[in-house]
Amino acid sequence: MGLILISSVVLLVTFLIIKWFKDQQKTPLPPGPGLLECLKITWHMMRKNDTHLIGEELSRRYGDIFIIRILSVNTVFLNSSRIMRKVFSTSQYRDVTNDRPPTFFSEYIFYGGKDLTLRNNDDLLVKIRHIIHRSMKMYGDGVKVFEDMVNSEIELMKNTLQSADNEPTFDLDSALTVSIIRILHIFLTNETPDNAAEICSVIKEYDHFANVLFNFSNNMVLTLFPWLRCVPGPFRDMYKKMKNVQNRLHDLYLNDRIKKRLGSHGKGVLAHILAEFEVDDQLNEFYVKSVLGNLVVAGYLTTKGALSGFFLLMLYYPEVQRRIQEEIDENIGKERIPSLDDRPVMHYTNACILECLRFIGHVPFAVPHRNKIEVEIEGLRIPANSTLIPNMWTMTHSDKAWDRHDEFLPERFLGDDGKLLPVDHPLRSRLIPFGTGRRVCVGESFAKSRIFLFVTLLLQKFNFSPDKNKLAPLHSSLWKPEAVLHPDFLKCAVRIR
Ligand code: HEM
Repeated sequence: MGLILISSVVLLVTFLIIKWFKDQQKTPLPPGPGLLECLKITWHMMRKNDTHLIGEELSRRYGDIFIIRILSVNTVFLNSSRIMRKVFSTSQYRDVTNDRPPTFFSEYIFYGGKDLTLRNNDDLLVKIRHIIHRSMKMYGDGVKVFEDMVNSEIELMKNTLQSADNEPTFDLDSALTVSIIRILHIFLTNETPDNAAEICSVIKEYDHFANVLFNFSNNMVLTLFPWLRCVPGPFRDMYKKMKNVQNRLHDLYLNDRIKKRLGSHGKGVLAHILAEFEVDDQLNEFYVKSVLGNLVVAGYLTTKGALSGFFLLMLYYPEVQRRIQEEIDENIGKERIPSLDDRPVMHYTNACILECLRFIGHVPFAVPHRNKIEVEIEGLRIPANSTLIPNMWTMTHSDKAWDRHDEFLPERFLGDDGKLLPVDHPLRSRLIPFGTGRRVCVGESFAKSRIFLFVTLLLQKFNFSPDKNKLAPLHSSLWKPEAVLHPDFLKCAVRIR
């Protein structure tokens, strides 16, 4: 017995030494903390969810690209838009860097990887992205039908705001939540919701658990130890609650009656997806359920984070709010309803929206990628099957990329002529909040349209100011660390202009 043990240890040590020597002869790995520090960081990550702050600190030490070994997984952080573009978009790398690492979420919530967001870069991904793109085109930029629907929903929200005119305080967070979810419902079904309270409750709960389970730490722990979902304790509770609300979501959107109705009038993204999936043998109901899950998370959480972050900034910066209102008055007027056609002339407003996305950096790690084979990038070796983190947090907060990075300065995106910098301007190209390349956000244009309409429609008619309550912290580094960040509360005074 003793002999077997000693031989095993000798074999293992010999193997590690040979591997170490072989590794020394190869191209070097990216810089990064040593073994002991990696263990300390892993331990910290397992207990706390603030990995984006650790990533920021390490990128100050190591630059645009560094590696942490999290137990058996090589985790490579890409810390600027320059390196992300190179790794995810250029023809040299894009065929091999756009897969996803295996995750608990994909395996146990999305039926063994049947969804879009967490699946590998395969033919089916291209097909599903194509279906969504095609169905979204019906509703994309400038399409009047969609714009009118969004406007009438924001009109409803305006009625609620009007009734708060004389109130000392108003819960803007809740009003935004309801409105964003109602619009998401229209986007999915092409129908105004008749049971809005139930829809809001289910989507909010679904997204809450998705946000908690998919944050860096919980995702890491559950992916490494998936059996924790069966052991009594917090992980099993979260998992059970997620599954429970997932069933409620399917009941709401995919029960037979609804499928039939959506199928018959064929409008809305969901109807489009159902129709495509019905004629395609490769796809089954689990794909539909999983893609619905993707859209419900991405379509609510991210836009909600951006809009509540934006209005929080308006409370901190009344002079910015005033300047946006002046631009609205000048270009749209006080009565005409703002439209997406107004976007090209609303330079200051557009700069504020961009700077908000930069300043809050509310999707800190986007969605991790994986490289299926070993690649060499800028003289550094990235081993096959590394987890590649698009470190959006550092991209938006780095003091190397942004002058006065911790200040909200919309003017940084304006040229000397007061116009928005063109997309290919070096400074603007430092900001890619929707990602880049094959996995770029499929909802980018929908999200940008919605944010623009909310901002202009609401600021045209109302002033927002702090009330007696304390404001949520200005800096998103102090917001609750989840996969998508948002201010913890947003109460304010609303006055008709
Ligand atoms: C402010 C709002 C939003 C931001 C900042 C945002 C950002 C992102 C980012 C960074 C990614 C990952 C890119 C990558 O993997 O490299 C992503 C992926 C995705 N987004 Fe968005 N997003 C937003 C809104 C939306 C909306 C409204 C939808 C849908 C209605 C949506 C649907 C998706 C989907 C399905 C993916 C996965 C694409 C894939 O894996 O191929 N997003 N988004």
